[in-house]
Amino acid sequence: MSKLNSRAIPEHVAIIMDGNGRWANARGLPRAFGHRKGVEAVRTTVKAAAEAGIGVLTLFAFSSENWRRPETEITDLFGLLKAFIRRDLAELHREGVKIRVIGDRFSLKEDLRVLLQEAEETTRGNSALTLVIAFNYGSRDEIARAVQSLAQDVAAGLIAPSDIDAAAIGARLDTAGLPDPDLIIRTSGEERLSNFLMWQAAYSELMFVPEYWPDFGRDTLVAALERYATRERRFGAVVAPAVAAGT
Ligand code: IPE
Ligand code: IPE
Ligand code: MG
Repeated sequence: MSKLNSRAIPEHVAIIMDGNGRWANARGLPRAFGHRKGVEAVRTTVKAAAEAGIGVLTLFAFSSENWRRPETEITDLFGLLKAFIRRDLAELHREGVKIRVIGDRFSLKEDLRVLLQEAEETTRGNSALTLVIAFNYGSRDEIARAVQSLAQDVAAGLIAPSDIDAAAIGARLDTAGLPDPDLIIRTSGEERLSNFLMWQAAYSELMFVPEYWPDFGRDTLVAALERYATRERRFGAVVAPAVAAGT
């Protein structure tokens, strides 16, 4: 990690953790094993991200479209999230990790909602790394909820339609107050966003890596950060070309 220039470290890295099922299939194991191994990769990656000086790490754990999976797999994924919070919360808290959860929480069962809220409340004052868990998250759902909330304020006469600008929409999203992701990594070789942070990804650097999520860890994260450091971000502006030698 010492090779990395600290100025080129992204403030916010978001990861689409994909490929657990294929990791398991490749070993002749049931998909559930891949998900379990995926939790280990989460632990390693959270530590490595904090060490690298990343401020915000967002992990896509369950999408609003993952309800289309078999019920047994859904139960598995919910069980793993609960077990992760129950087992790891104390250590994450000790390490100064602040937990935040994005996604539609209201359609989750009461026990999970309470657990997620506890995790957020316990770690609210921490400042080492913000770990954002995207659970039951989908961009279209998030944007629809934000628009509903703005429409309610318009109907109540609290704001005018002309007050609705990009900043007003951003402030109603689940990610309100967080910086947009500088870098979005998707594992497993798939090259799509799958309804992840579509509003926030407007100027994110996208990186698709071949490793299945259970094989992701410190080395793959550092390699991604090194690649990120070579990217040139323009945000729509003209960037002066580097002065060529001899001119
Ligand atoms: C990522 O792995 C975990 C979740 C989407 C919850 P997958 O379960 O999507 O694994 P593949 O893509 O089928 O290999
Ligand atoms: C995206 O992966 C969702 C998560 C990583 C939680 P999927 O495996 O669900 O995405 P698709 O279906 O291949 O696009
Ligand atoms: Mg997948």
